[in-house]
Amino acid sequence: AAAAAHAASRYKFDEIAWGNDTTHHIAEGYDAQVLLRWGDPITADAPEFDVMNQTAEAQLKQFGYNNDYVGFTALNDDGTRGLLCVNHEYTNEEVMFPGLGRQDRAAFEGMTRDLVDIEMAAHGGTVVEIARGDDGTWAVVRDSTYNRRITPLATEMTIDGPAAGHPRMQTNADPEGMTVIGTVNNCAGGMTPWGTYLMAEENFHGYFWTDKVDAEGKPDVTGMEEAEARRNRRYGVPGMWYAWGKYHDRWNIDREPNEPNRWGWIVEVDPRDPSAKPVKHTALGRFRHEGAETTISTDGKLVIYSGDDNRFDYQYKYVSGGTVTDDRAANSRLLSDGTLYVARFDEDGTVEWMPLVHGQGPLTTDNGFNDQADVMIDTRLAADLLGATPMDRPEDAQPGPGGTAYIMLTNNTKRQPDQVNAANPRPESAFGHIIEIREDNGDHAAIRGAWSILVKCGDPSVEDVGAQWNPETSEHGWFSSPDNAAVDAEGRLWISTDQGSGWSKTGKSDGLYALETEGDLRGASKLFFRCPVGGELCGPYFTDDGETLFLAVQHPGTDGTKALTGFERDSTFEDPATRWPDFDPAMPPRPSVLVVTKTGGGKIAV
Ligand code: FEO
Ligand code: CA
Ligand code: CA
Ligand code: CA
Repeated sequence: AAAAAHAASRYKFDEIAWGNDTTHHIAEGYDAQVLLRWGDPITADAPEFDVMNQTAEAQLKQFGYNNDYVGFTALNDDGTRGLLCVNHEYTNEEVMFPGLGRQDRAAFEGMTRDLVDIEMAAHGGTVVEIARGDDGTWAVVRDSTYNRRITPLATEMTIDGPAAGHPRMQTNADPEGMTVIGTVNNCAGGMTPWGTYLMAEENFHGYFWTDKVDAEGKPDVTGMEEAEARRNRRYGVPGMWYAWGKYHDRWNIDREPNEPNRWGWIVEVDPRDPSAKPVKHTALGRFRHEGAETTISTDGKLVIYSGDDNRFDYQYKYVSGGTVTDDRAANSRLLSDGTLYVARFDEDGTVEWMPLVHGQGPLTTDNGFNDQADVMIDTRLAADLLGATPMDRPEDAQPGPGGTAYIMLTNNTKRQPDQVNAANPRPESAFGHIIEIREDNGDHAAIRGAWSILVKCGDPSVEDVGAQWNPETSEHGWFSSPDNAAVDAEGRLWISTDQGSGWSKTGKSDGLYALETEGDLRGASKLFFRCPVGGELCGPYFTDDGETLFLAVQHPGTDGTKALTGFERDSTFEDPATRWPDFDPAMPPRPSVLVVTKTGGGKIAV
């Protein structure tokens, strides 16, 4: 039966064994080459990386930290030249700066202005030209004029859409409410059909600071207007994860109370025009956007799926007013004029997409929404009123063929037994699940669809876990905590995982899995790639010809407590759990993007 099932698998590769060690592993017959590491020079005038003497000035010309989303847009017809677009979600100061160690979050005593500025320069994104040589390997085109960094230290952005210029978007530094310096916590993202790069701003709340703290070091909002305090609470502002607010007024809400309203959006970058300012599109709502994967509806509209990655938060979808054409400038206006919907997953297997439009239903002045700008700035509060379904942390939402979408629900250990619903059926869910949506009439713009659970993650051999897999899934193939997803040129689904410190519950490193969605093998999973210890897997991104796969290994050497393999948590520079990918005693572990090809060429897993 196993041999027959293997023959029927839509993914032609032999899965690797699960495990966890200091390096990465990939299926036999494939090459995984390190393409870009934190600190690699990406412009012609960039200095070589000197980890002991890093500066913000150097970092602004070098590959950033904690690569997450990876996208690609080809520059020629055969796809051998193109622009790689990479998000740099966050920084781990304890692994970046020698001798610093982990910071006391309340004090950040070791975080000087210089180190903060390096962190800011290591956030954001990278656009870099890459080319495939005659031997099939990819390399960075170092002197390409397309190459650039996008950072919260130095990149000016324009605000557009319903909240542009609104009084709640105005600050002392930007009295017009039209211009923001940079973007942060860009987790997943998307490429539009016309080749622009979407960066999702996720945990922006963590960057905001207040000097007003109580005896426990928690923000003290005494004196703040009640409505404002309530809105900040709903978004977790100020999170005080970083020391930036000690040195930059805009991250300090005591000085700039409106600044948090300018973050939590989807940013569009035109990688083909290095002089073009990125745009924050407020029509797509403000929340902890995990990603922004795009597709086109039956009648040609742009559709973007985006989850709000927070326990008990919601799944969203945006549908443009106009249609996608060959006019690139006109296409970008599709992100300014459209409708944002939030999902209600009903017990009968129906998903209802409810519009977030000022004046409709409860979204009125009486309820605190004076205009569409308020609805977009306070998207979470508007969705609360509409009765959206609280989910188990919606991560990537990946549209697939035929009006399908796959929703990664990574985990939610806080869900109590009286809080379960059909779409989030497990209390204290440690391992997560994946929902498949089939939109009505196969149309991604539909306001209704059918949903079902594709898999419930975790170890199927442990009854208490309550996992649900196709029985053809081996001990190597099941996974936990789905985070990112991709659909390849053959229309097949791939899942990458982020267990965080939860990897100690499985003993497995994070990895890339091929997950069947059709036929008798629906719900069967196979392991293709796994990470070095303490790293999570981001990307993944397949080129249109199916021959190249980009993978991003984030924060190698850092995540997790003592696990089955015996690694201790120790993320200091001096004694990391791994020094992947350099294995140089003078170099800490470095987040890196890998490029995967089939040995000798050809389509992956075909
Ligand atoms: Fe940045 Fe939702 O993971
Ligand atoms: Ca993610
Ligand atoms: Ca994706
Ligand atoms: Ca993640």
